Amino acid sequence: MPSPTTSALLALFSLAVYASAQTYSTCNPTINTTCSSDAGLSSSTYSVDFTTGSDDTNWNTTSGNISYTSSGAEFTITQQGDSPTIQTTWYFFFGTLEVHIRAAPGIGIVSSIVLESDDLDEIDWEFLGGNSASVETNYFGKGNTTSYDRAVYYAVDDNQSTSHNYTVDWTTESITWYIDGVSTRTLAYEDALNGANFPQTPMRIQLGIWAGGDPELNAEGTVEWAGGDVNYDDGPFTMYVESVKVTNFNPAKSYTYGDQAGDYSSIELGNNTVSASASGNVQTGIGNADNGDTNGTVANASSTANASGTVVAQTTATSGFTVSSGGYSLIWGSSATLMVQGLRGAACGLNAEA
Ligand SMILES: *[C@@H]1O[C@H](CO)[C@@H](O)[C@H](O)[C@H]1NC(C)=O
Ligand SMILES: *[C@@H]1O[C@H](CO)[C@@H](O)[C@H](O)[C@H]1NC(C)=O
Ligand SMILES: *[C@@H]1O[C@H](CO)[C@@H](O)[C@H](O)[C@H]1NC(C)=O
Ligand SMILES: *[C@@H]1O[C@H](CO)[C@@H](O)[C@H](O)[C@H]1NC(C)=O
Ligand SMILES: *[C@@H]1O[C@H](CO)[C@@H](O)[C@H](O)[C@H]1NC(C)=O
Ligand SMILES: *[C@@H]1O[C@H](CO)[C@@H](O)[C@H](O)[C@H]1NC(C)=O
Ligand SMILES: *[C@@H]1O[C@H](CO)[C@@H](O)[C@H](O)[C@H]1NC(C)=O
Ligand SMILES: *[C@@H]1O[C@H](CO)[C@@H](O)[C@H](O)[C@H]1NC(C)=O
Ligand SMILES: *[C@@H]1O[C@H](CO)[C@@H](O)[C@H](O)[C@H]1NC(C)=O
Ligand SMILES: *[C@@H]1O[C@H](CO)[C@@H](O)[C@H](O)[C@H]1NC(C)=O
Repeated sequence: MPSPTTSALLALFSLAVYASAQTYSTCNPTINTTCSSDAGLSSSTYSVDFTTGSDDTNWNTTSGNISYTSSGAEFTITQQGDSPTIQTTWYFFFGTLEVHIRAAPGIGIVSSIVLESDDLDEIDWEFLGGNSASVETNYFGKGNTTSYDRAVYYAVDDNQSTSHNYTVDWTTESITWYIDGVSTRTLAYEDALNGANFPQTPMRIQLGIWAGGDPELNAEGTVEWAGGDVNYDDGPFTMYVESVKVTNFNPAKSYTYGDQAGDYSSIELGNNTVSASASGNVQTGIGNADNGDTNGTVANASSTANASGTVVAQTTATSGFTVSSGGYSLIWGSSATLMVQGLRGAACGLNAEA
């Protein structure tokens, strides 16, 4: 039985800052007002069984190669520089994440399950290959990597030889980490610097393996935290992910930061997506949008095309189109009036329904 072992709190806190905390986001909404919305998981549940193959609709490989076998998704490090990683193509906003994983062995090898938001909120499970008997739980809020008592290690009964159920239950009030159904750690909102360090913005799931113990790739503290120097000759080192299950408490097609605070209360949920099947009047060549023009021409075109995007507004205009300040959003005038975000140079149909 896995047991909560507060005694397993290692004297590594000063090093925990070197753990997986991401320090980079392609667009951080707390420092940038022009970030685009996140694609959301619009269903309330999602699950995948990687022992039956990959799921390229919901996952994107961001580094390396992953093989899918009857053992699951295999993430292997064979040589320096390998760090195979996949991440979801969508974000979810509070809920549960259940991952069945068999961590990789190998001193200095880190297997990880990471939830990461655009403003660098993070919830982690990390498995150090040199320590088959424990798993680290960790969290970060808004990229604050100041290290105190965030990383906590728990015992896992067996280890790299069998997979275990690592589940995170993430609500506005608390985060609970479960190992094989046993609650091991709970972080209350107020205990994370009165919420300031509490992960609370839409998260993407990242699964990957990396060589934290390669001194040529990492700082000394990271290598120490990872358990020491990697010896690639002992490899290959493989992490197996059998399955992933997500419950999204706030299903929506898009999540938008309403301001720069990074608070959950400011996240706007969007759900209106159109699939505009073009027929009849078709607007083509809307490149004017790039120039910030506020009007364009509507012409009948013989070609047909489908366009899809997020409806962000509607208008009663019956002709012409207006281009919103974003440059990519069109207000289409017709019997059905749509403002479609994310389209450029594509053809829009007039018969679409919002
Ligand atoms: C803000 O985001 C835009 C779009 O992603 C990017 O081009 C710009 O460099 C960012 N600015 C800052 C200060 O991060
Ligand atoms: C998938 O990952 C690649 C490589 O990092 C990136 O260029 C691409 O934009 C990603 N696609 C999605 C849908 O996230
Ligand atoms: C992935 O595997 C293919 C075929 O084995 C190989 O050609 C390619 O270089 C690999 N890519 C990476 C990023 O390792
Ligand atoms: C970062 O977190 C630490 C506590 O872990 C806190 O003392 C500090 O004020 C936080 N910094 C910011 C900018 O919130
Ligand atoms: C690791 O797993 C092996 C095989 O299941 C078992 O014999 C061993 O006791 C486990 N070690 C720990 C530290 O749990
Ligand atoms: C995994 O653990 C979670 C949390 O305890 C539990 O709800 C879930 O049913 C478990 N999954 C399986 C397959 O046992
Ligand atoms: C978005 O639509 C899904 C079903 O398609 C629904 O479950 C969800 O509650 C909707 N979200 C919002 C914010 O309306
Ligand atoms: C465009 O198509 C519509 C419907 O097919 C038709 O009523 C209209 O006369 C056409 N306009 C032009 C300028 O061809
Ligand atoms: C855009 O077109 C509409 C309808 O043709 C017209 O009423 C409006 O004045 C035009 N706006 C601009 C800024 O040219
Ligand atoms: C447009 O969408 C419709 C309905 O989804 C589909 O039947 C049709 O084949 C699509 N047309 C094109 C050109 O993709």
